[in-house]
Amino acid sequence: MKTETLLHYATLAVPRYTSYPTAADFVTVSDGQRATWLGKIKPDEAVSLYIHVPYCRQLCYYCGCHAKATRKDDAIAGYADSLVKDIRLQAQHLQGKPRVVHLHWGGGTPSILPRQSFQAIMETLHEFFAFDEKAEHAIELDPRTVTRDLVNTLLEMGVNRASLGVQDVNPQVQKAIGRIQPAAVVKRSVDYLREAGIEHINFDLIYGLPLQTIETLNETCRTIGDYRPNRIACYGYAHLPKRRANQRLIDAALLPGPLERFYQAEAVEKNLVASGYMPIGIDHFALPDDNLAIAAKQHNLHRNFQGYTDDDCPVLIGFGCSSISEFHDGFAQTVAGIAQYRRTIDANEMATVRGIAINDDDRLRSAMIAELMCNFKLDLSKFGGKEKFADALERLKPIIADGLALEHNGLIEMTDEGRPFVRAVASLFDAYRQQNIAQFSAAV
Ligand SMILES: C[S@@+](CC[C@H](N)C(=O)[O-])C[C@H]1O[C@@H](n2cnc3c(N)ncnc32)[C@H](O)[C@@H]1O
Ligand code: SF4
Repeated sequence: MKTETLLHYATLAVPRYTSYPTAADFVTVSDGQRATWLGKIKPDEAVSLYIHVPYCRQLCYYCGCHAKATRKDDAIAGYADSLVKDIRLQAQHLQGKPRVVHLHWGGGTPSILPRQSFQAIMETLHEFFAFDEKAEHAIELDPRTVTRDLVNTLLEMGVNRASLGVQDVNPQVQKAIGRIQPAAVVKRSVDYLREAGIEHINFDLIYGLPLQTIETLNETCRTIGDYRPNRIACYGYAHLPKRRANQRLIDAALLPGPLERFYQAEAVEKNLVASGYMPIGIDHFALPDDNLAIAAKQHNLHRNFQGYTDDDCPVLIGFGCSSISEFHDGFAQTVAGIAQYRRTIDANEMATVRGIAINDDDRLRSAMIAELMCNFKLDLSKFGGKEKFADALERLKPIIADGLALEHNGLIEMTDEGRPFVRAVASLFDAYRQQNIAQFSAAV
């Protein structure tokens, strides 16, 4: 591909499509609306749960998550009390006991919760939900805080998948991102988890960080590839210093440019494929025997707020500040601020602030965008035919001319060269897209 073409697509601002409509399209949604949506979940329906814990001991410079640094253990325990109340408040609108097939703890660093808080939350969940015997129970962990004690608590809770934030193993890069974490620390956490029988391990890496080069990423991939995590996600660094004060600590002059970012992502893929990982959609990799790789082979991949998943539940109930719930008829997001969340929950309200009701057109476009993001192709004949999407096909023409996609009788397919830019094609089918053009991170 010509450099200027690459540059054009690499700098396009397009959503990540972890949902459709995207969170940027959310409008005001009330607790009453959430209550109706909760009430529509069937009494024994399979559901996924997400619990957000926004605290960390210190903030990494690059972090774009809903996270806050604290040294105050009472603030953390108090937040956990609000989570228990949040579960009770939402559960009162459920009919029956939905069956949990996935539970994910995200953050922040959820492992910051004390053992008693984990126990109280798990007990409350068991009161209102039936857990499937084979449920996946995953938690995000900061390797620097993984101890044998913590791993025992996780085992008691039934955790069977751990996701570790690795980012990069190079000491200079680690200094530039305010996260000193020698590779040996990552190795030690993996050993503790595996020794205890928590065998499913995910690593998160980032490319596009300050001082990162293809060489540092090669070194990172070589080092962490030896630990054989079952899954690896490698996201492009999203630098939004206007919105994230902690990111202002990053020297923008040290950030790789868009072309370098593209070649870095390419180098990560080459390395991981060479060491036996299968690429899953964009940014994700898995060992061939992992459920995610199996789902990809069977064309049964899905997307949710954590990225690619084999979780096919249409309902995801979120607890905690900033969490997003997905119901049959729409999305509901809880207030992001910790203090406001706790005040509202303590006043027996669910703290819903944003979201969106979805209609049949949203459902159709959501399935189309998922098809592209997961399988890199889209058969328009399954979604109402070519004529219905004549506008999008017109806008696809330059993308085809640039060699990124092909179209024949309404079957759109990304070329190998075009795959990293699949979000650009997905955005052609996004009815909300034109309104929010400037808010997203670069396509690579
Ligand atoms: C909640 S953290 C993971 C758990 C734990 N707090 C940790 O850092 O080890 C989620 C992941 O999001 C990714 N992430 C955070 N900020 C990011 C950013 N600005 N751009 C891209 N990825 C980011 C990192 O890979 C991070 O590991
Ligand atoms: S990357 Fe993880 S540990 Fe670092 S600030 Fe973000 S959530 Fe906290």
